[in-house]
Amino acid sequence: MSSKQNTPQRDFFSNKFGIIAATAGSAIGLGNIWRFPYIVGENGGAAFLIILLLIKFGIGLPVMLSEFTIGRHTQRNPFGAFRMLAPGKLWWIVGFMGIIAAFTIMAFYSVVAGWTLDYLYNSVLDGFNNKSADDIQSMFDSFVANGWQPIIWMFLFVSISSLIVVAGIKKGIEKYTKVLMPALLVIIVILCVRALSLPGAEKGLEFFFKPDFSKITGASVLEALGQSFFSLSIGMGVLLTYGSYVQKSDNIGSTTFIVAFADTAIAILAGMVIFPAVFAFGISPGSGPGLVFVTLPNIFEQMPAGYIFSVLFFVLLSVAAITSFISIQEVVVAYLSEELNIKRKTATFLAAGGAVFLGALCALSQSGHLNIMFGDMNLFDLLDFASSNLMLPLGGLLIVIFVAWFMGKERLLRELRSNGLYKASYFPIYNFIIRFIAPIAITAVFLSKLGLI
Ligand code: PHE
Repeated sequence: MSSKQNTPQRDFFSNKFGIIAATAGSAIGLGNIWRFPYIVGENGGAAFLIILLLIKFGIGLPVMLSEFTIGRHTQRNPFGAFRMLAPGKLWWIVGFMGIIAAFTIMAFYSVVAGWTLDYLYNSVLDGFNNKSADDIQSMFDSFVANGWQPIIWMFLFVSISSLIVVAGIKKGIEKYTKVLMPALLVIIVILCVRALSLPGAEKGLEFFFKPDFSKITGASVLEALGQSFFSLSIGMGVLLTYGSYVQKSDNIGSTTFIVAFADTAIAILAGMVIFPAVFAFGISPGSGPGLVFVTLPNIFEQMPAGYIFSVLFFVLLSVAAITSFISIQEVVVAYLSEELNIKRKTATFLAAGGAVFLGALCALSQSGHLNIMFGDMNLFDLLDFASSNLMLPLGGLLIVIFVAWFMGKERLLRELRSNGLYKASYFPIYNFIIRFIAPIAITAVFLSKLGLI
């Protein structure tokens, strides 16, 4: 196999904990703490949460395993992987779509990550101290409306991420996530305790956990699909790329499940912090992308040692954002360096440049300086919507179809079982889902969005 000889020496994760930490590092990020609460808030709460969980485990998890399997099997970037498994066919297009999705997500993600850095800076300066809920709201509004400041923070964020990506997998990505992800969990649990003891917290819990299915519309099912995929980092090649750094002896079935579980646990805990506080401080749950940023400082304001907790929290949220962002950037970098033989450093720089350019446009669309609207969405909203709700589910659909119908059952089973090391007793259910349920369900959600069914 001549292409094998051309493959550059690849880095691997050192052990199972390293794999889980890095994959969870990708999955857990702004998607859980920023996007999840605002999407649940906009879609009416508990009933939406139930649909989201059903979709996440019923469809998202199998897509995630499929993507991981292709990566581990081929040990290639998404392009190379499809070209190796389906030579001469058009499947490499899935890899190409992943690159487009990567730039789309990097653009708005880096903007929100920039907000996070600004909030970290403000926390360090104790800038939220003695502020009322209204003050905190107007601080957010005026920060976003300021054209340059968010762009500078975004630039800083992308630069930090790029330094880590240049360092490579084991030395860069894995080292940081191993320690910092568990720390994030601890601090969210502490915040949860404070939020649940706020006066009026029950209303938030009711909103989050007591379903009212009359609030569900066809559009919210698409939102649930998009949020599940976004949160699990699937549908665009991130997991495929990470899977390619996983050793052959790892049980990818259990790794996938642990990561999906951890990702969901963090999101639910984040909801249990945000919604009680939203109701306690009279904030609207449907406030949109600013929700977390106008809610959290209120909690810090009202808790003992709030200063320390706010600094710690925004440090960890920034880190969670970085460990997700690097996974997106890595997709572009792996492609440029392995397929186009561009040096890793240059590739990282190119990916960062594209992200900063598009991110600046997004930030300016949020501030009102760039006034192009797509229906009721500005550029930021459009990229957020289009990547999560359209590109990722479409990518996921093609990935499961490929694995279920084109990869070959024997080959698939061998990979899931690590050549006989594990049983993969979940295989019959998994196989049924990827063959029928997932493709039909994703297509149906698309068709219903288009008003065709
Ligand atoms: N899952 C990440 C988060 O929750 C975002 C992400 C999406 C990362 C798609 C990679 C790919 O923040």
